[in-house]
Amino acid sequence: MPLEILGKMYQKANREYYAIGQFNFSNLEFLQAIIDAAEESKSPVIVACSTGAIKYGGLRNLVALTRTMAEKASVPVSLHLDHGTKLDDIKMCVDGGFTSVMIDGSHHPLDENIRLTRDAVQYSHSHGGITVEAELGRLGGIEDDIKVDAHHACLTDPDEAVRFVKESGCDALAVAVGTSHGAYKFKGESKIDFDRIAVIKKRLGIPLVLHGASSVDPESVAIINQFGGKIEDAKGLDKDSYAKAIKNGINKVNIDTDLRLKWTAVVRKTLQEKPNEFDPRNVLGPARDAVKAVVKEKMKLLGSAGKA
Ligand code: G3H
Ligand code: 13P
Ligand code: ZN
Repeated sequence: MPLEILGKMYQKANREYYAIGQFNFSNLEFLQAIIDAAEESKSPVIVACSTGAIKYGGLRNLVALTRTMAEKASVPVSLHLDHGTKLDDIKMCVDGGFTSVMIDGSHHPLDENIRLTRDAVQYSHSHGGITVEAELGRLGGIEDDIKVDAHHACLTDPDEAVRFVKESGCDALAVAVGTSHGAYKFKGESKIDFDRIAVIKKRLGIPLVLHGASSVDPESVAIINQFGGKIEDAKGLDKDSYAKAIKNGINKVNIDTDLRLKWTAVVRKTLQEKPNEFDPRNVLGPARDAVKAVVKEKMKLLGSAGKA
């Protein structure tokens, strides 16, 4: 199939209460793993590149690879820009063939975030009707903050969200509800403000996005550490968080760290267990298979498996 505009996928997910996974990539093997997983799971999928990934892989290369693989696939694939921060990022990706973009103005004051997002929406909507995700609030672990009040100021405020969406015209909103990016999300229990998701969803009705949604599989971390890595006190979301978040209104769940951890675990283990190996295919191949298995497991948990 040709690459799909994300807005089309959202409608069904929003109606049927499941989430589409966004999986980040910057190389051939991750992309193969993600699209093969979607195909085998009969799931719609969002493959995403950050500006860092684009710098690493090259915009035209990444778009060409994704287009080629999507065209062969029987499931819908959308190519999304993750955390664009400037209008130029948006223009580069819309012009370059992406079918969804995120403008992240969450570090700006509200009015400036609205202005930047509105410009991104105007450009994207008028160039092929490309879907725009925006962000309001700051991601961060709930218990990391010493002052509870100061912390709550970082989570997405429902009243601000209403004004933000109305004035910016964004199609989907990334909400800050206690998660954060990377492998160190929580010091103790996984803690997410599910009620806040429900309130925002009720007020807005549009698709909501959960960033920082990796579960940080303890087994992958243990293998990394066993084979020479050093990742201490990593902690992600509990597995039942996905179901709770989706029930309250999340339709897109962003996962990058879980794939990176699995990848690192397999590469470290393979290189140590096979000291004579120097064919990259025999190292990266098993890692690719393991990443595919992680993506398939996520698609089941998100409820997108079988929805394509
Ligand atoms: O949200 C961040 C994503 O995990 C992308 O990370 O900028 O290292 O590619 P990156
Ligand atoms: P993780 O670091 O939890 O995988 O989150 C990725 C993300 O939110 C990308 O936008
Ligand atoms: Zn993110």
